[in-house]
Amino acid sequence: MASECAPLVKTGGLADVIGSLPKALAKTGVRVRVLLPEYPDISNLTGSREPALRFENLFGGPAAIHAIHVHDMNLLVLSAPHLYRREGNIYLGPDGQDWPDNHTRFAALSYAGAEIAQSGIAGWKPDIVNLHDWQTGLLPAYLAQSATSVPPTIMTIHNIAYQGLFDSGQLANLQLRSEIFTASGAEFYGKIGFLKAGIAFADTVTTVSPRYAKELLNPEFGMGLDGLLRARQDDLVGIVNGIDLDTWNPETDPHLVANYSVRALKGRQLNKQAIIARFGLRPGTGPLFAVVSRLTQQKGLDLLLDCIPALVAQDARLALLGSGDADLENGFARASRRYPDSVGVMIGYDEPLSHLLQGGCDAVIVPSRFEPCGLTQLYGLRYGTLPVVAQTGGLADTVIDANEAALAANCATGFQFAPVTADALNQTLVRVCKLYQNRQIWARMIRRAMRHPVGWDQSATAYHKIYSDLISRS
Ligand code: ADP
Ligand code: GLC
Repeated sequence: MASECAPLVKTGGLADVIGSLPKALAKTGVRVRVLLPEYPDISNLTGSREPALRFENLFGGPAAIHAIHVHDMNLLVLSAPHLYRREGNIYLGPDGQDWPDNHTRFAALSYAGAEIAQSGIAGWKPDIVNLHDWQTGLLPAYLAQSATSVPPTIMTIHNIAYQGLFDSGQLANLQLRSEIFTASGAEFYGKIGFLKAGIAFADTVTTVSPRYAKELLNPEFGMGLDGLLRARQDDLVGIVNGIDLDTWNPETDPHLVANYSVRALKGRQLNKQAIIARFGLRPGTGPLFAVVSRLTQQKGLDLLLDCIPALVAQDARLALLGSGDADLENGFARASRRYPDSVGVMIGYDEPLSHLLQGGCDAVIVPSRFEPCGLTQLYGLRYGTLPVVAQTGGLADTVIDANEAALAANCATGFQFAPVTADALNQTLVRVCKLYQNRQIWARMIRRAMRHPVGWDQSATAYHKIYSDLISRS
């Protein structure tokens, strides 16, 4: 269960995971159905067919669930027009603020999921329910309130910074009983915590990299839930995300100007020229850096702003695609006005352009303050755009820094910096620019990065094992 699923509806990496993990699980013999809300973009897929389940009144209006097969996925789509038929961002209203009824919208998703978990749908009942992020966190709380036998649940945390906290006055409206509203349950400093409920009541908790699983136990990263997670340490596992190797394949990617492979890299040059032209940059002797990111505090891009003069001094260029906080959008717009032929900025969300940047830039910068897994560095590896990453979370788990020992051992795939400060980033960017001048080492690193395994195989097997263990335990 999740609130996003690529390619149907996406605001970030969660969608990529939900769109690709089920296919990888299928290869290990797990049959997956994904329960999603029916946002406007999805409603044209369900058409006028008969629903598999109806609710006369699901938190304020009629609702139904349709079972459909699209993009090689089996979906269960929760149609509830009073909750999901809204244009624009799936979480935010036109004023840029959270929809005021987000608690109802996502409680309804969990409530419907709990109904399926208990009673099944059209002759099918899940053996396991894997929940993703706060939008699905109430499901185990609803199951805890039920007297019937229920399948085991897994709460997967993609980002603990988003917890789904709502006013406790909503408890009764959300059909939650007071027994679950305790410090060891759904209560978080007087509020209802959707993610907290999920962590407290699920049978197992996973997150999206081993290092983030450890970081979450500390107050610095746990964001108030570290205590509960320490209490559940034995049930907490970090499994690194994979990527969809078909959607993200430089040999076939339709969004590239030229396709290429690890054996024939020439196409990268044409992609690079296309990026340079599109962003209005000049050719230069230094590397072309990419950023593809939400512009939020998490992503640490304010640190990069401080490094721009040094980048320009190295004859490097930067092409940034992103959107988010106004001060960061303005900061990068200012940088591009100041250095118009070195810094190119596109504010917005553009899936095809994100592929082109990975297919033609020399390096991709991900300076996050925290990063549960991160997918952009994995796309960078797959496309030979060497990742320059902060030493945190999944970034630290997936990129091998080009220090002397790693270069000598022929295993470096990118660059890491620590601490996560502008100074350390600056020094690392200078290091990258220097190494870039050694064409032989750089070309070798590209090939090694492209060969680095970033698919789902191992991780899907790890999910499979958790599912099997839970089933045998229950
Ligand atoms: P997060 O989920 O925290 O945003 P991830 O690295 O896991 O971070 O995933 C980000 C995903 O969103 C990647 O698929 C990335 O390519 C995509 N993305 C982020 N910003 C943009 C943008 N402005 N345009 C297109 N794709 C974007
Ligand atoms: C979250 C995290 C990101 C992770 C993604 C998918 O959005 O911020 O690090 O890659 O979820 O798990």
